[in-house]
This record gives sequence, C-alpha cells and structure tokens, in this order.
Amino acid sequence: MKIIVNKTEYDIDVEPNMPLLWVLRDILNLTGTKYGCGIGVCKACTVLIDGYPEQSCSIPISYVEGKEVTTIEGLSINGEHPLQIAWKELSVSQCGYCQPGQIIRAAYLISKIPKPTVEDINKEMSEHICRCGTYKKIRDAILWATKD
Ligand code: FES
Ligand code: FES
Repeated sequence: MKIIVNKTEYDIDVEPNMPLLWVLRDILNLTGTKYGCGIGVCKACTVLIDGYPEQSCSIPISYVEGKEVTTIEGLSINGEHPLQIAWKELSVSQCGYCQPGQIIRAAYLISKIPKPTVEDINKEMSEHICRCGTYKKIRDAILWATKD
C-alpha cells in the first residue's frame, strides 16, 4: 500500500485496518504524533489529512491511501513554522504530550482563518484535552503567531 506522509511516498505492507497512528509511530518512526486515549477523544494524535485535522488513532491506514498526511514533523523542516516559533517564544508546553496535536489543529485554523479572534480560537481548539492546563498559553501563542 502506498501512502504519502509529509510529502514523502512510502510503500508499506500492513493490514488495511491498522490505525494510521500505529503506522506513523511504529513503521515510519514518526513519533511526534502522540497516543493518548486511543478512542478519538483527547485529540493528542491529530494529524492533517488532505489539509483537515483527523484523529490518527481512529483512522484505518486504508483510508489515507492516495491522500496527503501531514504530521508535526512535516509542518516545517527546522521548526520555523510561525506557530512553532510562537510556542517557543511563549513557552507554551509543560509536559508537552498534547502539544503536537494542538499545533497541528492550530495550523489548520490559521490556514482557513489567517487572523483568528479569541472566539475563533476557542471554538476550534476546544476539543483538545491538555492535562497540564495550557489552554490560555495556546490561545496567546496563536494570537502572537498571527498578529502581523
Ligand atoms: S489518542 Fe487519538 S484522540 Fe486520543
Ligand atoms: S502540556 Fe501536558 S498535556 Fe498538554
């Protein structure tokens, strides 16, 4: 089965119902995407599929055949995406576990709304769970990244 992840094509030999997250982490060694709940609730495992955020723990690999998957590793080569810079500037992360999924969701948000309001941010980011409570810092970082 051929899949495209971060603009690279991979030919993989796995069961078609293997979750995308397993393929990313265990086959492709792209461990930036995290496993949290495994049932589509926490959003830690969020990646972009053809530009839209999806939960990779709950998507069979067969679903992404012919589609473009983007993980946190694919957002920029050297961590130079405006969101990644903002995350560092504002020291958003605590344990960091939820953050790749949060940044991927934020990237989707600013791809459709380049200058989001606080309301836009709250609405888009509200389903992501952060056990460390970094919600305000995440909001501030998205505003910081999109201010100019
Ligand atoms: S690990 Fe996928 S939503 Fe929680
Ligand atoms: S930074 Fe720890 S879970 Fe979000």
